[in-house]
Amino acid sequence: MIDEKRYTLITGASAGIGKAIARECAKRGHNLILVSLPATGQQEVGAQLNRQYNIDVKTVELNLVLPHAVHELFDWCCRQNLKIDVLINNAGIGNYSAFATTDAADYLNIIRLNSEVVVLVTNLFLPKLREHAESYIMNVGSFVSFLPIPYKSVYSATKSFVLTFSKALHSELDQYGVHVSCLCPGPTSTETVKKRNRLLLRQNSDMLTLSPEEVAKTAIDGLFNRKRVIIPGWKNKFILAIVPLIPFRLRSHILKAIFKNGFEKEEEAPANTRAEERASP
Ligand SMILES: NC(=O)c1ccc[n+]([C@@H]2O[C@H](COP(=O)([O-])OP(=O)(O)OC[C@H]3O[C@@H](n4cnc5c(N)ncnc54)[C@H](OP(=O)(O)O)[C@@H]3O)[C@@H](O)[C@H]2O)c1
Repeated sequence: MIDEKRYTLITGASAGIGKAIARECAKRGHNLILVSLPATGQQEVGAQLNRQYNIDVKTVELNLVLPHAVHELFDWCCRQNLKIDVLINNAGIGNYSAFATTDAADYLNIIRLNSEVVVLVTNLFLPKLREHAESYIMNVGSFVSFLPIPYKSVYSATKSFVLTFSKALHSELDQYGVHVSCLCPGPTSTETVKKRNRLLLRQNSDMLTLSPEEVAKTAIDGLFNRKRVIIPGWKNKFILAIVPLIPFRLRSHILKAIFKNGFEKEEEAPANTRAEERASP
């Protein structure tokens, strides 16, 4: 039987912001297709949302950076004739490392997931989105989409890419009823971030930090209000409004001081802690 239900496709939905977005969409009655790495508890997340909100949840376990993975996902959705009217490109990884001493392979992996996969998923799924009079794409950038960050150089560059790509698509796809938003969260207390802070004996006292649930609610409200760029939290908005007023050299100097200090603290931490940081946003 052909499944005529509509689905929201979310990448990286087993944890953090993606998981909170999945719950926010479930609350609003969306059926879900959740995609993340194998064996990370996503099926349990899906089963719980299904029970709690009486929606249909399909889970796909895939490493999106592998060759053909995105095509496999697309083919799988086509074989099941799933109708998709919301696409959320959330999966992403970060770095906190000195460029001079880091293997390029680490960076290429980040570029692949944060930028190439976003373009590929969007391009492949666009015809499916266009089957509907109105459809929505949300790409997850970051606060750092607006700022070149020392020691997070590649991560911040990929997130700038996501922001520019999304803004351009917002204008280009509007004529087809496809609305594109870029979500740019500041620091968010995901489990990965909290665990790292605990290991580093660092308090989660960042004044700018929001919970994944707060970010998800603002994100989904913004998406359906067709906002081009969504920045959760008034403090984050305020900072990004005043940053351009600071002369570039001074801004670079301040950012370097902040992030060099953070990087040096990370380097002093036990090796297993550093490995986790490299894998987190
Ligand atoms: N947390 C923050 O402070 C923050 C701030 C600004 C922007 N962001 C952005 O928000 C997004 C989500 O971040 P988060 O903090 O929620 O991260 P997270 O808690 O580490 O979750 C990342 C999600 O992406 C999935 N994922 C990672 N690599 C993947 C791959 N190769 N293939 C498929 N799925 C993969 C993970 O799946 P597994 O669970 O299976 O590993 C997980 O579901 C990212 O794009 C990040 O850059 C985060």
